[in-house]
Amino acid sequence: MTWAPSAWRDLPIRQMPVYPDPKALTAVEAEIASSPPLIFAGEARALKAELARVAQGEAFLLQGGDCAESFADFHANAVRDSLKVLLQMAVVLSYAAGAPVVKLARMAGQFAKPRSSDTETIGAVTLPSFRGDIVNGSAFDAAARVHDPARMRQAYHQSALTLNLLRAFAQGGFADLHRVQQWNQDFVAASPQGERYAALSRQIAESLAFMTACGVDPARLPQARATDIYTSHDALLLPYEEALTRQDSLTGDWYACSAHLLWIGERTRQPDHAHVGFLAGVANPLALKCGPAIGADDLLRLLDILNPGNEAGRMTLITRMGADLLDERMPALVRAVAREGRQVGWVCDPMHGNTVSAASGRKTRPFDRILREVRTFFAIHAAEGSHPGGVHLEMTGQDVTECTGGAQAIGEAGLEARYETLCDPRLNGSQSLELAFMVAELLRQRRRLASIPSAARMAAE
Ligand code: PEP
Ligand code: CO
Repeated sequence: MTWAPSAWRDLPIRQMPVYPDPKALTAVEAEIASSPPLIFAGEARALKAELARVAQGEAFLLQGGDCAESFADFHANAVRDSLKVLLQMAVVLSYAAGAPVVKLARMAGQFAKPRSSDTETIGAVTLPSFRGDIVNGSAFDAAARVHDPARMRQAYHQSALTLNLLRAFAQGGFADLHRVQQWNQDFVAASPQGERYAALSRQIAESLAFMTACGVDPARLPQARATDIYTSHDALLLPYEEALTRQDSLTGDWYACSAHLLWIGERTRQPDHAHVGFLAGVANPLALKCGPAIGADDLLRLLDILNPGNEAGRMTLITRMGADLLDERMPALVRAVAREGRQVGWVCDPMHGNTVSAASGRKTRPFDRILREVRTFFAIHAAEGSHPGGVHLEMTGQDVTECTGGAQAIGEAGLEARYETLCDPRLNGSQSLELAFMVAELLRQRRRLASIPSAARMAAE
């Protein structure tokens, strides 16, 4: 089969909304198809090169943002605050790893949600499930839950505005390392992590001053004054993705221009189905969610389809097995990939396998399980001689109460205070920073071990 942006339409598909008005759908698709792309091929290639370094253990990936972006909660301050936390975390990680941190936002396009059930029942009423603001509304009423293609137009425009803010913050001075102390928000600064961060940022400020004193003025270095923020989302809603796919005039390759990196979710990774078929044909860097049910053979088959040339930086594997299953399921995958010589970056999503129901029925995630999954991820890579390449988090810069635990000791009763997510529970700003400090410690340990000659290391272990 020759690939074309629309070829997925001939394949079986999961999680596809059913639009009652196909003409309205076609009209919106045509409108988006003739609108400007959100990202450019050269940027996607730059991210691919950075992800190749992640796979080699030379850089660390920090991927984070909302579970589902929201039309109603869209404010510049919310984008800025999430970015602040990402920048804080990146500084903490980069300082510990002594290596660059690739910043990949789950933002500017992360709207569509896969659901385990097509319908939701409350009392005697059954309605279509909420599939993300790009498809239908979250309110539990029949009108809101209709699949409405006009929502794609709004998602496109909101993504463009969000991306514009991210680019401005990243390049316009806000991300300047000299401002590292200003990324600490008040509610975070008051926490133990905030104090730890303040101490680290003082150290960084001193280092910058020292460099200036030595005649190397970091204020003149583009690397210190600005950063690159890339975007990513689950490539779930294929009519939208197809409408934003463009052929690059330089290389003739097709790029999905809705985000720099697209990932394939746990529920849509069937090798002969539409989502895999679509993504196989675009040249962006891709990620694949790997849940507990994926076997080594499934994974190798997907890598054959998605990256037949074994191109470096093309594939990032995001494990999301849950704290209890990771140790049992992941080593076989790491070994199969190593045995077959596949180039992949390994990233840990400690969120999606650790969702539980609180007594109130609220979905939550215990912070200690999240930390445990990350620690297990690092331990497996240490044992297998592979690289823990990064973390994938659902997080926000707001002071929400959606995951239990952490230094603020949020209990189940405390969840009600600020439970604001449209979908899955997110880490708040201080939990995110707390997690970053733990990952930083794990990265520091790896660095220490790597610096010891191997014989001494074996003795030390
Ligand atoms: C997600 O990342 O929000 C998600 C739905 O993940 P998964 O496909 O791994 O369940
Ligand atoms: Co989620």
